[in-house]
Amino acid sequence: MTREQIEALQLEGLQETVRHCMHSEFYRKRFQEIGLEPGDIQCLDDLRKIPFTTKQDLRDTYPFGIASVPLEQCTRLHSSSGTTGNPTVILHTDKDIDEWANQVARNLWMVGLRPTDVFQNSSGYGMFTGGLGFQNGAEKMGMLTVPAAAGNSLRQIKFIKDFGTTAIHAVPSYLTRLKEVMDKEGVDPRKDTKLRIFAIGAEPHSEEQRKRIEEMFGVKAYNSFGMSEMCGPGVGFECKQQNGLHFWEDYYIVEIVDPETLEPVPDGEIGELVLTSIRREAMPLLRYRTRDLTRVLGRSCPCGRNHVRIDRMKGRSDDMMVLKGVNIFPIQIEKILMQFPELASNYLITLTTDDDNDNMTVEVELEELFTDDYQRLVALTKDIQRALKDEILLTPHVKLVPKGTLPQSEGKAVRVVDKRKVYQ
Ligand code: COA
Ligand code: AMP
Ligand code: ZN
Repeated sequence: MTREQIEALQLEGLQETVRHCMHSEFYRKRFQEIGLEPGDIQCLDDLRKIPFTTKQDLRDTYPFGIASVPLEQCTRLHSSSGTTGNPTVILHTDKDIDEWANQVARNLWMVGLRPTDVFQNSSGYGMFTGGLGFQNGAEKMGMLTVPAAAGNSLRQIKFIKDFGTTAIHAVPSYLTRLKEVMDKEGVDPRKDTKLRIFAIGAEPHSEEQRKRIEEMFGVKAYNSFGMSEMCGPGVGFECKQQNGLHFWEDYYIVEIVDPETLEPVPDGEIGELVLTSIRREAMPLLRYRTRDLTRVLGRSCPCGRNHVRIDRMKGRSDDMMVLKGVNIFPIQIEKILMQFPELASNYLITLTTDDDNDNMTVEVELEELFTDDYQRLVALTKDIQRALKDEILLTPHVKLVPKGTLPQSEGKAVRVVDKRKVYQ
């Protein structure tokens, strides 16, 4: 499609979506508040008449308050982690699931995968959209699909060898771990496997990290951007040129805004990614603030596609961390820690890459020192670790330290130290 064709399709999709959103209690109220009628959307620029939607809106309307269709028309939901506050819930109809699979299939086809390929998905399944999202897309494309799910590297390697896996979807930090286990097992991916293509994403990573993965395995690795609020994986994907992610503008309208002023920034300048879904039924989101920082690289590509090219993610405009492909807010950790009367209020979260594994260490000060009671200390550490795992879905190292030992910062406390250098 030419830019004109893409934009004509977008206007049609936007107008239809705004009309459809009148069925959503949340959006109907919002439109009424500002006196907006669906007929006011006459051109793509009119999108700016619509207020932004935020994660807080999703939380405030938990669980189903933004839906634009009756619940009986929905066939699936995905929810974010968290038990202490309201998680975010995204609803899907059958058509949404089918379109989502179509988007993922398009991506996989674009980078050269075909029905003769064997696709292994090492994403978490269940609520993680990378699981069912890639599963449905790879199946739709006709590949033999191996729902290996996250973890158990020895089994992953057995599948890769026995089933002749040619392509894997994984978070980039996990692939370095997988290679470490391959090395230990004496498996050479170049000689002993048929691997040729990786889809890597769901967490920030640098160009250097991608190159390293490509060299380690002798494969091509393509960046995949996904977000549960928009569907999941399939929102943006690199083509064979590897020169930015093509965001699929027949499904989304892409804006980049200054996170402070919320005004659009010129192409090439870094700002916050704002997405409007224009083909979803159950729960379209208008001008959704993703909080991811990036920029527009161009609107044409040597591959022939004219869908906007977006740079790899450069950071966040909030304090969300993505570790092992899992989204975590520091407040989730704080709320769990504060449930333990033995703990004081000062804590520090450190993210590191040790021996090719990404890890989180939570150091927290004890209200009262009882280092002489070793057993009690071990039991408390385990209890905290288990409670944190239930909340954030991965297992942090927990270190209990005497009161006054963690750095006290003036003003706003520094709660997170990220030593992984994922944004570059
Ligand atoms: N994907 C796949 N496997 C992973 C992983 C990841 N992101 N992170 C760790 N693993 C593997 C580890 O290598 C280990 O297996 P091994 O020892 O056989 O190599 C196993 O999972 C457990 O790892 P550990 O770090 O001890 O577990 P954890 O309790 O901290 O939780 C996961 C790790 C895997 C359960 C959790 O991080 C997860 O589910 N991640 C997947 C997230 C995802 O799919 N995101 C995509 C969203 S679209
Ligand atoms: P989720 O809704 O769990 O799929 O998480 C979505 C978030 O994961 C995004 O808002 C990003 O912060 C992050 N993310 C997903 N894909 C990528 C990617 N390719 N590069 C960097 N961050 C990503
Ligand atoms: Zn391209």
